[in-house]
Amino acid sequence: MINPDVRIIRCLLEAENKFVSGSQLARELGMTRVSIWSRLEKLKEEGFSYDAVRNKGYCLTGLPEKTHPTLLQAILEERNIRTPVHYYPEIDSTNSEAERLIAQGESTPFVVLASLQHQGRGRLGRQWHSQDTGNIYMSAAFRPHLPPSRMQKFTLWMGISIAEAINDFLSIHIQVKWPNDLVYNGLKVAGMLTEARIDADQTRDLIFGLGLNVNSHRESWPDEIRNKATSLAAICGEPIIQSALAVTLVENAIKAYNAFIDGSYQSSFQERWAKLDGLKGQIVRTSGGHQLIGKVLGIDADGALRLLLPDGSEETCSSGEVSLQHYATNQ
Ligand code: BTN
Repeated sequence: MINPDVRIIRCLLEAENKFVSGSQLARELGMTRVSIWSRLEKLKEEGFSYDAVRNKGYCLTGLPEKTHPTLLQAILEERNIRTPVHYYPEIDSTNSEAERLIAQGESTPFVVLASLQHQGRGRLGRQWHSQDTGNIYMSAAFRPHLPPSRMQKFTLWMGISIAEAINDFLSIHIQVKWPNDLVYNGLKVAGMLTEARIDADQTRDLIFGLGLNVNSHRESWPDEIRNKATSLAAICGEPIIQSALAVTLVENAIKAYNAFIDGSYQSSFQERWAKLDGLKGQIVRTSGGHQLIGKVLGIDADGALRLLLPDGSEETCSSGEVSLQHYATNQ
């Protein structure tokens, strides 16, 4: 079903800051001028702003910062992105919803996006703070049908791709922190949680979840993360239009998945990780598996973390987490 609000916003977005006359809009959209005006007035209450000038028409002057379904759909259509995006103002967890949709037979790929999660999940059974509507909570669902051994580097690769997409979009330099975080100056900006269902030696369903701090303010964060995290708005010094960023993330997640599945990611994997590596040269302690303390050298071709130990030997760590022993920025 074609949503009239989406069509109005699309027309105004496509006009790129130029005025579009009310009669042209009415003609193109098959609506009355009064109905266009009243819909725009309603959208104004939801964060859109526009100029309306007699004999010139309408021109968009501002967009809602928080994720807005009309803007989201309009940008998806404008960029010709066909991947279905299921948006929820609130949900238990986007990963759980993706799991339910997969179980119902929804065809993949698709994306679940929410403004708020009641039971956001983090790694290792942790909770992911998701009460703030200024962030992006998103899950992309796939059916790779590949042996689990082929999926080993999936989250690392998605991390590279998502970090590059955000950096291009905002002209910043966020980094990857092995294995599942995106950081800026050592502060966490995003976490990734990949969940898979394996059947008969095949990864049947794969859900890639991303929690990204966008416009939320540190005052709203729980004490335990306040000094360890940051947001894109804090990095950029201005609010971000979440719907536009979300569309960029959807587009890039699908592209990255395809490059992973066809194997084309392999040729640039290590090099691109190295360019974004937020741990290189840092002294870290590994946890989960056997504990090591060492200086990070980078990652190997399998995605394992390479460490230089105090005795001069080299070890790799392929699972678990790392914490910094000393943090010195390497930017
Ligand atoms: C981490 O522990 O760092 C990973 C956090 C992943 C959070 C995201 S938010 C969207 C998706 N839905 C969830 O319940 N979790 C992931």
